[in-house]
Amino acid sequence: EKDGYPSFMEKEIHDQPSAVEQTLLGRLDETGRLTLDELKIDEAVLRSIDKIVVIACGTASYAGQVARYAIEHWCRIPTEVELAHEFRYRDPIVNEKTLVVAVSQSGETMDTLMAVRHAQEQGAKVVAICNTNGSTIPREADAVLYTHAGPEIAVASTKAFLAQITAAYLLGLYLAQLRGNKYKDEIATMLAELEAMPAKIQRVLDEIEGDVKDLAQSMKDASSVLFLGRHVGFPVAMEGALKLKEIAYIHAEGFAAGELKHGPIALIDEGQPVFVIVPSPRGRDSLHAKVVSNIQEIRARGAVTIVIAEEGDEAVKDFANHIFYVPEAPTLLQPLLATVPLQIFAAELSAAKGYDVDQPRNLAKSVTVE
Ligand code: M6R
Repeated sequence: EKDGYPSFMEKEIHDQPSAVEQTLLGRLDETGRLTLDELKIDEAVLRSIDKIVVIACGTASYAGQVARYAIEHWCRIPTEVELAHEFRYRDPIVNEKTLVVAVSQSGETMDTLMAVRHAQEQGAKVVAICNTNGSTIPREADAVLYTHAGPEIAVASTKAFLAQITAAYLLGLYLAQLRGNKYKDEIATMLAELEAMPAKIQRVLDEIEGDVKDLAQSMKDASSVLFLGRHVGFPVAMEGALKLKEIAYIHAEGFAAGELKHGPIALIDEGQPVFVIVPSPRGRDSLHAKVVSNIQEIRARGAVTIVIAEEGDEAVKDFANHIFYVPEAPTLLQPLLATVPLQIFAAELSAAKGYDVDQPRNLAKSVTVE
């Protein structure tokens, strides 16, 4: 069942091109328009929503954070992301005009389910993004957008994460289309870019897997690893840190790169490994330059920088102790590529330490208690 891979996690990392492809499948018609037939919420209701709240836990919440950048940009609908357990117990303001998006691989996470019920009690409509057919959250939600990643066995989520992000992009683009958004050309471009992603994810696997594994082997005695990113690179950084905590039991933290000088830079001393997710240099704003200057700041203080950057980005090379290039993609879609080396790194490091990659201590695949 592991298809010859040493762990389910490794297999599932390799399933990702197909997981994303399957999640896109059948959702675009010949003219390139999105048709989300399963989204059985009245179009008039969808047009009237004035706020979106994404609720989820763990890795699914990082998919939600990526979704926020995309949905707000494409739809201009204010979007919040909140950990389901925090949302449930803080008396959140939601009503009939709120669309709640519950993201869950298993569909059985109790924290998320309780938050769904709470939102519905306040009159909100709930769309589930879920990987498990017929599970509780999609059954109770008003509509469901299934991710078609296939069963995920390893406790550490990988392919479900990429599929959740993909489904969230589809939801964002669909809402933008429905609301006659002025960014029409961008919607069409994004859909075409999305269709190109499975092949690009495959290229990441083909081209850099070996080097990432070598690095992981050489770092198996690291006691702490930091991850930095801006914009969508921020949730990617947190996901990279979570993977390492979960399966390699290494202290790891993800930060927004802009937050460095507000505290975390004090952690940097000689030899501290820091992964940095670098946005595309072709992006519209000055994000790239900002991240490059963050890399210089930490290098000057002795950090060992491990940089994930876009192919052709030569500017960043001089400041990287290690560099892994991923294919070009629009900034908003980069998480589908930049996450992959972080997953490979964590799986390899866990294996190098002799741990059970698929069944980390203290964790369960689905958390059915609050
Ligand atoms: O099944 P869910 O997506 O609702 O699970 C949410 C989290 O428990 C889950 O993502 C957890 O953080 C994973 N172990 C991450 O690898």
